[in-house]
Amino acid sequence: MSETAESLHIAVIGTGVIGAAWVSGFLAAGHTVTAFDPAPGAENRLRSQLTDRTASASAPQTDQIRFASDIADAVADADFIQENGPERLEVKQSMLADIAEAAPPNAIIASSTSGFAPSEIAARTRNKPERIVVGHPFNPAHLVPLVEVVPTPNAPTEVVERALEIYRSIGKKPILVRAELPGHVVNRLQAALWQEAYSLVNRGVVSVADIDTAISYGPGLRWAVLGPLALQHLSGGEGGMQHVLDHLGPPQEVWMHDLEQVHLDDQLKDKLVAGVDAELFGRDEKRIAAQRDSMLRDIIELKKRYEELP
Ligand SMILES: NC(=O)c1ccc[n+]([C@@H]2O[C@H](COP(=O)([O-])OP(=O)(O)OC[C@H]3O[C@@H](n4cnc5c(N)ncnc54)[C@H](O)[C@@H]3O)[C@@H](O)[C@H]2O)c1
Repeated sequence: MSETAESLHIAVIGTGVIGAAWVSGFLAAGHTVTAFDPAPGAENRLRSQLTDRTASASAPQTDQIRFASDIADAVADADFIQENGPERLEVKQSMLADIAEAAPPNAIIASSTSGFAPSEIAARTRNKPERIVVGHPFNPAHLVPLVEVVPTPNAPTEVVERALEIYRSIGKKPILVRAELPGHVVNRLQAALWQEAYSLVNRGVVSVADIDTAISYGPGLRWAVLGPLALQHLSGGEGGMQHVLDHLGPPQEVWMHDLEQVHLDDQLKDKLVAGVDAELFGRDEKRIAAQRDSMLRDIIELKKRYEELP
């Protein structure tokens, strides 16, 4: 954290996969963290994960964390709260109601929910529900910079701006989502790709491994550099996006309208599971995950060197 940046008091509620990642990010940026998770052994698990991550470049300051005895204790002095409980609506609603009851009135409350709308999870909150936003991260969340911020329709501008600013302060790259939709924006984009990938596998057009090769050795390489729309613009040469849409728009529409809806029945699930097993046969999954993280770190560092790219 730079000397001028403020140090905030952050509460992280639920310290499973995603909560632990948020704790590392907030600590590494110089904020203090109070965490709470009711699972037996949760504090030890969190501390040992943080210790493992101290080997990385952005080592979390493990002395800046306190483990609280309940939600009220965790959020009592918080400036910002990140909720990461189980993805079940009634659990989220109850956790957020408890958090809002005990948090200072100006604290912002963000939920990591992968798909619920902020209005849905705030439905049982009586104490200033308009300060509840979705702050949806991406796995592995201690590395991937993207966070989707989804406010409720009547959220004050200050709440939205402040949430975006706090995420930027820990090196995240937030985007603002201006409507409440199932899956927010990014899981919908992923769902569009998954739908066609599953359909192509189901029809026997390509294998699971072929789909993964096609993306990770093809468009996926470019997508880490520039998004799919800016890339489309570049592919149009001097005519840019206008030329691409005029020239390739009509066939593109044919492809878009030919996409098939899939239903995840047992037969398709079996094909997908067997396909991934065949693709990864003989490889060590722990090493795959570690190499994914290591390569992601390299790519994220590399991106900082190319200032002309958005
Ligand atoms: N795993 C992912 O890839 C991913 C990515 C983005 C967002 N998310 C979202 O993040 C949230 C957490 O997911 P996860 O993968 O970390 O799940 P997880 O199962 O690893 O962690 C959930 C944690 O919540 C704790 N918990 C249960 N009840 C609680 C309570 N009343 N108060 C506080 N903590 C409580 C559990 O003990 C557990 O440690 C979900 O909303 C999920 O949709 C997950």
